Amino acid sequence: MWKRSIIIKNQKQIDWIRKSGYLAAKTLDYIEDFIKPWISTLELDNLMNDFILKNWWKSACIGYMWYPKYTCISINEVVCHGIPSKSQILKKWDIVNIDVTTIVNGYFWDTSRMYSVWEISEENQKLIDDTLEALKIGMKQVRPWNYFWNIWYEINKFAREKWYGVVREYTGHWTWVEFHEEPYVFHVAPKNSGNVMREWMIFTIEPMINMGTHKTKLMPDDWTVKTLDNKNTAQFEHTLLVTKDWYEILTPWHRDKK
Ligand code: MF3
Ligand code: CO
Ligand code: CO
Repeated sequence: MWKRSIIIKNQKQIDWIRKSGYLAAKTLDYIEDFIKPWISTLELDNLMNDFILKNWWKSACIGYMWYPKYTCISINEVVCHGIPSKSQILKKWDIVNIDVTTIVNGYFWDTSRMYSVWEISEENQKLIDDTLEALKIGMKQVRPWNYFWNIWYEINKFAREKWYGVVREYTGHWTWVEFHEEPYVFHVAPKNSGNVMREWMIFTIEPMINMGTHKTKLMPDDWTVKTLDNKNTAQFEHTLLVTKDWYEILTPWHRDKK
């Protein structure tokens, strides 16, 4: 009935899960100082992979459905799954999402956040702030016996009130013994419906919020997803553990502590 994904046996295992999750988030902290004009996304990808390997973890992205690189780096109108490349150079005013998934001993931690390159426009800053707020609004719904879909009902309500588009095709997911496990954590959902959350569950919340339409298009490389109207988009992602009466962030960036 319940998959292995929600069965955690003891406190020691939780402590280990917690510790390893912190390590995934640390990659995002580490790369912050390198986000500057003129660096290529391939260089960033390699720096992060070196950091991951140095710590004895592994990227879960490379080879996942033939994905060719270690991380996903999505700039401006790229919603998600941007493939790092030598010819893609960061420039002033860009906004960038970096998504890192590590695998240690067969377990996954998945997290992403936004960076700005040098200067940032007021409207991009607002998009980023609101997207982080959307993630927090989603996290507020996480507790045992609440409905999964309330997470997304609330995120959608918040974003729509501000006239943003909320991406529907790519969802949050359980992430435990497989990268993407069911049930998916849908981004647009009716209130009080679907499964309920239970203590020990582990899943991601990862809202993708667009300045314009919610619609997206897939590029010919079969990975890169862009907004249909080429307007900017932002995303933040955490892997969460449902605790006895609340939740815990398994992938806290230093930004969470500010
Ligand atoms: N990290 C992404 C997510 O949040 C998935 C990336 S799949 C990859 O679900 F193959 F592109 F790495
Ligand atoms: Co994810
Ligand atoms: Co991710």
